[in-house]
Amino acid sequence: MIPQNSPLANYLSHRQDIDAAISRVVQGGQYILGPETAAFEKEFAEYTGVGYAVGTGNGTDALHLALRAIGVGAGDEVITVSHTAVATVAAVEMAGAAPILVDIEVGSYTMDPTQVKKAIGRRTKAILPVHLYGQPADLAPLIRLAEEHGLHLVEDCAQAHGASYHGKKVGSWGHVAAFSFYPTKNLGCLGDGGAVVTNRPDIHKKLIALRQYGWDRYRRSQIQGFNSRLDELQAAVLRVKLTHLDENNEKRVDIARVYDHSIDIAGLELPKPVPQTTHVYHQYVLRCPEPPVRDELISFMRDRHIQTAIHYPVPVHLQAAYARRLERRAPLGTTERAAGTIISLPMFPELSHDDAEKTAFAVRDFFAGKR
Ligand SMILES: Cc1ncc(COP(=O)(O)O)c(C=O)c1O
Repeated sequence: MIPQNSPLANYLSHRQDIDAAISRVVQGGQYILGPETAAFEKEFAEYTGVGYAVGTGNGTDALHLALRAIGVGAGDEVITVSHTAVATVAAVEMAGAAPILVDIEVGSYTMDPTQVKKAIGRRTKAILPVHLYGQPADLAPLIRLAEEHGLHLVEDCAQAHGASYHGKKVGSWGHVAAFSFYPTKNLGCLGDGGAVVTNRPDIHKKLIALRQYGWDRYRRSQIQGFNSRLDELQAAVLRVKLTHLDENNEKRVDIARVYDHSIDIAGLELPKPVPQTTHVYHQYVLRCPEPPVRDELISFMRDRHIQTAIHYPVPVHLQAAYARRLERRAPLGTTERAAGTIISLPMFPELSHDDAEKTAFAVRDFFAGKR
């Protein structure tokens, strides 16, 4: 079986260094907020091109704390997308705010700025675009809207470590940005992990308190806080993996090129590179003409021993937990059409050229049979 993803393959390709890092932590005796986390925060901030990074327990917490750090709370609204991991929307509610969901653009699968403009209201506090699949959202119009209306821009970078927009890394554009290091991400650890990045010293200071009971340096709780820390083992693993992030992203791009060149079928939409952005292909997502064709393609691939996935099959506003509650100010037609027709092909740095070709040829065979 060709897997859709393989965090194990990524561990195995850096095994010696990761094992040495783990052993160093275990024998060092300090397991929470020690030298590894501090060093990783510094290295990751440098890599992203920001002043500060703060490690958290996971990416959902990173978003939650990012929103709290800019003052989002009860009574506020945050504009985000429905075509995302539930985590994005869950984090807005964890901060006590109401998510306002807007549609995505055809082609990029990211937030449609024209819809954001219509959704801004009296209670809006922040705009939260998601750089989905490794494709940066169109940030320039969102930054303009945020400036015009006095809003914060919060980036969800969980799927886009190392991607850039107009030559600058994602995560360095917003007032604050959140990353996930879930094992399958472009930069993934061996468990849960996340980070918030910012250029603002005041936001950084608040994040340091928020992740640990609202403590000041004397361990006195000055604000309401939480417990969400990146542990030393994960930080040590991430330090190893960060040194390979660019080369691993290049491998993802090479696989995407194999797919681009070998799958050229009328009616099937391939990821379109958006000008002025670098896509880091967390996922390579095809769009079929109709939902039944997509579902048949999944079974066809399974019969060829090729695993595929759907990111995501049910938009957040249609999921049971949200369907009857969330305010919807705009139609979400593009989101709903995407959810029914998309399919994610195998994509991870260690996927061999042969397996990428096998995958592409299987897609071609499927559509040849349909003609
Ligand atoms: C777009 C997006 N946002 C947020 C998250 C949340 O990250 P985590 O799973 O580390 O909480 C994820 C990952 O699942 C994600 O893909």
